[in-house]
Amino acid sequence: MAILRLVNISKSYENKARVFSAKVRKVEAVKSVSFSIKQGETLGLVGESGCGKSTLSKLIVKLLQPDSGDIFFKNINITQLKEKKFRSLRRKIQIVFQDPYASLSPRLKVKEIIAEPLSAFNYEKQYILKRIQEIITQVGLNSGHLEAFPHQLSGGQRQRVGIARALTSFPELVILDEPVSSLDLSTQAQILNLLVSLQNIYKLTYLFISHDLSVVRCMSDRVAVMYRGTIVEQAEASQIYEWPVHPYTKKLLLSKCWLRTAQK
Ligand SMILES: Nc1ncnc2c1ncn2[C@@H]1O[C@H](COP(=O)(O)OP(=O)(O)O)[C@@H](O)[C@H]1O
Ligand SMILES: [Mg+2]
Repeated sequence: MAILRLVNISKSYENKARVFSAKVRKVEAVKSVSFSIKQGETLGLVGESGCGKSTLSKLIVKLLQPDSGDIFFKNINITQLKEKKFRSLRRKIQIVFQDPYASLSPRLKVKEIIAEPLSAFNYEKQYILKRIQEIITQVGLNSGHLEAFPHQLSGGQRQRVGIARALTSFPELVILDEPVSSLDLSTQAQILNLLVSLQNIYKLTYLFISHDLSVVRCMSDRVAVMYRGTIVEQAEASQIYEWPVHPYTKKLLLSKCWLRTAQK
């Protein structure tokens, strides 16, 4: 069964053409995007910076509302749901952002950040404490880190906190929007391994977003290639890398030396 299904999702922004100008320029960030993700799989979404990946992820977690189209989570049309009705589903669909420094509130302690997704529910304090102790060790930190503020942690540790926050509420679908792009290479590998092991523990479904083809390849069952707001190609990961069809996919692979020139 598809856990997530997008049908013709579009979203545009209206930007001022220049700082003091009254002229408005419309940016079509996401144009009629459709895809679905099966329960338990990882769909990789790859595309260059500015092609609409983050806009798409914000639409899925309802931080943005689409101009048109529908998003179904387990056959429930969440685009139509009002915030109050969506609240019980919000904890099932979580997101990890690219920059853990910008996405974690600097004034909150790690324990408050991690507990935040549970705040909308009337859980007992004891339960919340137990849950944050459990998740902090599962992401490779320890209970000492719970009293820290984000600025006291390294980049990798901060991203572990971002991942812990996304998982406290036992989500089923996690949107990973460039989760390792701001980290150095050795930390990237550790975080990717952590994401794989957490996926096994919690039977998670991932939408794994990156501009980095090699990272997407090692994480994904299927890959969707995004170009200027649209999905130009999607297929099994091995097929995309061996036999790309769309010219943009070929260009992307060639630029990273993934594709032999003979296949041009
Ligand atoms: N809040 C916003 N207001 C106006 N334009 C935006 C906003 N966010 C993104 N954009 C524009 O939408 C396009 C897609 O951006 P984004 O979704 O962030 O792409 P990506 O994550 O692939 O880099 C870009 O042209 C970007 O400048
Ligand atoms: Mg982005």
